[in-house]
Amino acid sequence: MRTRIVAVDPERPLPAAIEAAANVVRGGGLVAFPTETVYGLGANALDATAVARIFAAKGRPATNPVIVHVENLIGAQKLTTSWPESATRLAARFWPGPLTLVLTKQPVVPDVTTAGGPTVAIRVPSHPVALSLIRVAGVPIAAPSANRSTEVSPTLAEHVLRALDGRIELLLDGGPTANGLESTVLDLSTEPPRLLRPGPLTRGELEAVLGQSISIVSHRASEAQQGSPLPSPGMLARHYAPHTPLELAADSGRQRVIELCKNGKRVGWLAFENESSVGPAGSLIILMPPDAARYGARLYAALHELDQARVDRIVVALPPKDETWAAIQDRLQRAAAQPDNVSSRGVHDP
Ligand code: TXA
Ligand code: MG
Repeated sequence: MRTRIVAVDPERPLPAAIEAAANVVRGGGLVAFPTETVYGLGANALDATAVARIFAAKGRPATNPVIVHVENLIGAQKLTTSWPESATRLAARFWPGPLTLVLTKQPVVPDVTTAGGPTVAIRVPSHPVALSLIRVAGVPIAAPSANRSTEVSPTLAEHVLRALDGRIELLLDGGPTANGLESTVLDLSTEPPRLLRPGPLTRGELEAVLGQSISIVSHRASEAQQGSPLPSPGMLARHYAPHTPLELAADSGRQRVIELCKNGKRVGWLAFENESSVGPAGSLIILMPPDAARYGARLYAALHELDQARVDRIVVALPPKDETWAAIQDRLQRAAAQPDNVSSRGVHDP
């Protein structure tokens, strides 16, 4: 299959471009498109065969459900059996935007979309390209991030192409995505609500609107092994990981970078802007912004760059601990989690 690439203005996409993409979605095909968080890999959420193709293209386990993107609150309500008052309040405050709500699903949502589970994850994206695509296609769009399973999410069209060229019909290239980190996922099918994935909207922001506290879900593999169902299967450790082994430093990382370079390693170093822009010999330094929003927007592109540069190791300066950094801390810890058998994976094997 040849992947067609269509450039679009992220603010005012041409109707012809959106129409072409919508036709692919209506015909059961796959379209990658920008959202305000990361690029999504979209298909008609109500077409089981089309959604199955998303799983095949990504190499995603069938046990990991996907997020359904809708145009507005009414679109979301059509997919759910009950709509709590808390969902109305959250939607009024944060939709369109990077908040995904998990609620009990209507039978119209096929099992493949929800990985056989009774709930569906829904969000209304704020990106004009994503919104017009949903509107013109006239169907809800199932879209996980447009990367191969467990790899780093795409924040640029070129990241999507590197992972999925030849596996999808069309890519809408709308330039870099603004948030750079995946949406906050909140489970409203439980009481109290559970934060399944930290994201651009913080726990505190959600609690302020809900007027109650949210529980935080632990995704430790040890608990999964005890036979309890996974609250959010996509949150297993070792997700969002670059090909290159990544270490989270306990400090700026400088000493660790020096040590690794002395041992002959080529090291990619995500440092903060207060470091000198020249790293130790043998290192490739990327200076990261000191505020969480800009850091988050830059993070995945930096990891993609270091993978491309084929360094042996990535060392990341420890980010601040406060709540605005929670999503970044989460993604970095997952990226640093070692696969069960590192040697069999090989540093640059896909
Ligand atoms: O920002 C985003 O959310 C992006 C853009 C494209 O919208 N999408 C995204 O999708 O990150 P994905 O598939 O990479 O991550 C979806 C997350 C996974 O952790 C998955 O396990 C969880 O949402 N999820 C989906 N449906 C769920 C459900 N019914 N119950 C619990 N967790 C669910
Ligand atoms: Mg993903």
